[in-house]
Amino acid sequence: MNTPSSNRLRVGVLTGGGDCPGLNAVIRAVTRSLIRDCQAQVLGFEDGFAGLGENRVRPLDWQSVGEILAMGGTVLGTSNRANPLASPEATQRVLDTVAMHELDAIVAIGGDGTMSISAGLAKHGLQIVGVPKTIDNDIEGCERSFGFDTAVAVVTDALERLHTTGQSHGRTMILETMGRYSGWIALEAGIAGSADVILLPEFDYRVEEVARICRERERQKLATLICVAEGAKAVGGQLTVAQRIDNSPDPLRLGGVAHVLQSQLQPLLDHEVRATVLGHVQRGGSPTPFDRVLATQFGVEAAALVERRQFGRLVTLVNGQMNSVPLGAVAGRNRKVPHNHPLVLTASQVGISFGQPI
Ligand code: F6P
Repeated sequence: MNTPSSNRLRVGVLTGGGDCPGLNAVIRAVTRSLIRDCQAQVLGFEDGFAGLGENRVRPLDWQSVGEILAMGGTVLGTSNRANPLASPEATQRVLDTVAMHELDAIVAIGGDGTMSISAGLAKHGLQIVGVPKTIDNDIEGCERSFGFDTAVAVVTDALERLHTTGQSHGRTMILETMGRYSGWIALEAGIAGSADVILLPEFDYRVEEVARICRERERQKLATLICVAEGAKAVGGQLTVAQRIDNSPDPLRLGGVAHVLQSQLQPLLDHEVRATVLGHVQRGGSPTPFDRVLATQFGVEAAALVERRQFGRLVTLVNGQMNSVPLGAVAGRNRKVPHNHPLVLTASQVGISFGQPI
């Protein structure tokens, strides 16, 4: 990278991939921390790597990030399709923008795809620090990602609402959560929202066993509340894919397993079954206080890595402490719910079924 013409550190910030509550809190924390510590000049690139390639940029200063802490989404915009590694020309456009602004570092806030791209760009000499984001809480080596707590709160609220309407009609109510190939959202929200059955990608469910629980509850004149993660499937079944986005780093979009489960259960039950797919409601809106704090910690740590010139690293949370690992070390690896996870055992102790015979 070029040596800056002034002594002030110059840092670009971008958000890539799907959005997540807490992104703005990270942008604010990175900006303010760098300004406070070293009067850095901070530039925000719009729509992730797309804006970096097309030089769509705006200055971020102490005031301009002042009102964004509690805002959902990302004030910088994001893209889950721009891939500067797709061609040498696309890579060069990014390198040219970085040289033009004499940037010392880029802070890339994003998911798997963004981190793989960041690791690739680091090989071209870019000095990058990554901040992982996802509501799915599935980043390997990171015990909690910001956005997750907000998603769990939204799903919990939805479960409570489904419970009252389901109970009124004596129905089996199915709620489908996001989470891709990991069941963390469904697990925590299922416990918090008093689900009777939680179905996770990590435990293939048996339709007959889920139906048995519903029938037993029907007999007792009780509704049944099922919280199913979008990546769950029956034993011997397939993932339910809603959409393929070919030029996305993660082309499969899961969704619709709630309806599959509804059609599996309905013929086996007397009462009606209803399915709700919660979708992007889980990702929208203001982050919870927990996520605002966590996102602020991630942002401050990212700024610290830049100041210490520890580039090519991804901020993580380990044993409640901020930490970092090499970029790319966790790319493409999802953190799954282990079968013996304490929360699985907790759920079982209060009678929640995972759709497998005991
Ligand atoms: O990874 C976050 C996530 O919200 C997943 O839970 C979900 O499967 C996916 O993104 C949805 O992606 P999109 O916003 O592209 O539909």
